[in-house]
Amino acid sequence: MKNRTATAKRSEMLLDQALGALPPQAAKLIGRDDELATVRAQVLAKDVRLLTVIGPGGVGKTRLAVAVAESLRGNPGFSDIRFADLAPLPEPTLVAAAIARAVGAPHAGDGSVLEATRNHLGARRILLVLDNFEHLLEAATDVGGLLATCSGLVVLATSREPLHLRWERTLPLRPLALPDPKHLPPLERLAAVPAVALFMERARAADPNFMLAAHNAEAVARRFRPRSSGVSICSMPVNRRCFGTRRFSWAAGHSKPRNRWRIRLERYAG
Ligand SMILES: Nc1ncnc2c1ncn2[C@@H]1O[C@H](COP(=O)(O)OP(=O)(O)O)[C@@H](O)[C@H]1O
Ligand SMILES: [Mg+2]
Repeated sequence: MKNRTATAKRSEMLLDQALGALPPQAAKLIGRDDELATVRAQVLAKDVRLLTVIGPGGVGKTRLAVAVAESLRGNPGFSDIRFADLAPLPEPTLVAAAIARAVGAPHAGDGSVLEATRNHLGARRILLVLDNFEHLLEAATDVGGLLATCSGLVVLATSREPLHLRWERTLPLRPLALPDPKHLPPLERLAAVPAVALFMERARAADPNFMLAAHNAEAVARRFRPRSSGVSICSMPVNRRCFGTRRFSWAAGHSKPRNRWRIRLERYAG
């Protein structure tokens, strides 16, 4: 009994994290002009009900989906835009409740959460961003159920895998454009290559003195070799492992930062 209460409490907490509003983004969107325009046009198209942005982890799916949603704020195409971060949910059975909370459906009581969500949405034209669906694919049928009955609902999902619903259109997201280390452009143009721009932004956040210069340009450009998995190195360590929690530990003033990336940055800094 105690265990069940603890589990229920944890589920509530996780669902709260998934709640409704768009997550604020600390940094501006880099590159992705074409993808932004494509996704925007697709979700605004009358015949598109579900668009899934697909790609490996760290490639930028969430960032793009949030940017699209932000760009559509106030657009007459939608009366509301809601966001559900599904990443913290441990199991597909929680997806219906996460959607209900994200769209602000009243508590279902003893009834079905999906039913309450369906009644709440009716025919309203709403864009619902379902972020990080990949580990909950079994819950795609719940999304399908809503799409079948709520004629104004448009879902923009991000996932490593498609949801495989009949409404679905997919947009495979490629890594940000990379520099060619063998044909380096002048520094100014190199700094404008999207992957380099993202790298520079993260590098500066970690070390404000870090500069792209003639002596480190090639070393920086070589960081972005594509891997056999198709994920460029820039979209993994730069985003997550290198400048995520570790940057925080520097900021917290650790006297001896054990950070391989700091060492590497110093190497780039010559
Ligand atoms: N085009 C971009 N502009 C700015 N930051 C980006 C861009 N693409 C990815 N990022 C950043 O890289 C990190 C990983 O991107 P994310 O969207 O979470 O990847 P995914 O959802 O594919 O796992 C995040 O910190 C995100 O803000
Ligand atoms: Mg994501």
